[in-house]
Amino acid sequence: MLLRIPDVLTPEQVARCRQLLDAAEWVDGNVTSGHQSARAKSNEQIPEEHPAAREMGAMILQALSRDPRFIAGALPQHVFPPLFNRYGVGQTFGLHVDNAVRQHRNSGLRVRTDLSATLFLAAPDEYDGGELIVEDTYGAHSVKLPAGHLVLYPSSSLHRVTPVTRGARLASFFWIQSMVRDDGERTLLFELDQAIQRLAGEAPDHPSVLQLTGVYHNLLRRWAEV
Ligand code: NI
Repeated sequence: MLLRIPDVLTPEQVARCRQLLDAAEWVDGNVTSGHQSARAKSNEQIPEEHPAAREMGAMILQALSRDPRFIAGALPQHVFPPLFNRYGVGQTFGLHVDNAVRQHRNSGLRVRTDLSATLFLAAPDEYDGGELIVEDTYGAHSVKLPAGHLVLYPSSSLHRVTPVTRGARLASFFWIQSMVRDDGERTLLFELDQAIQRLAGEAPDHPSVLQLTGVYHNLLRRWAEV
């Protein structure tokens, strides 16, 4: 499942990120690459322990921890501390698959990458190119969202970022280990959750709300690893 979540950050939070991104030091993006993806990748990143990365990372994690759309869609167990990248003119990230396990250098936290997230930090009209292309069994999906919006997609998918031809693409990227490892099971739970929310909104006293909520939790109990 590819899930777009609008307005994860407020315009004020995006503006604060842009201040920090403008002032930060940038290094070659291959510091976080595996062997295979390093050959495909051309961009810049902020070092993991840079104070700007820590401040923005904490802001993003706090926003996500209170976001019911993220919680329902990702069923997060662990979230890797957010990283930040920039693609200038001519920079790109060719087709690749993300490493299955990431270890955070300082904390030692190990995350199985079930879901990949991109949080856009530049407005679409600030740059040309820089689309995130995610391939799944239904074909290739192109994603370019307003600043402050997030996309979640299965880390198992092949994906790439098309070359930037004008301006600069700024984003945060990170991975999520889900309580429910399997994308198909997680997608079913999300669709059931959305249907229950809708039914509860339109017919709160309907006995099916309770019954379906029971089904949801019993499926989660069956599939969750915590
Ligand atoms: Ni990737």
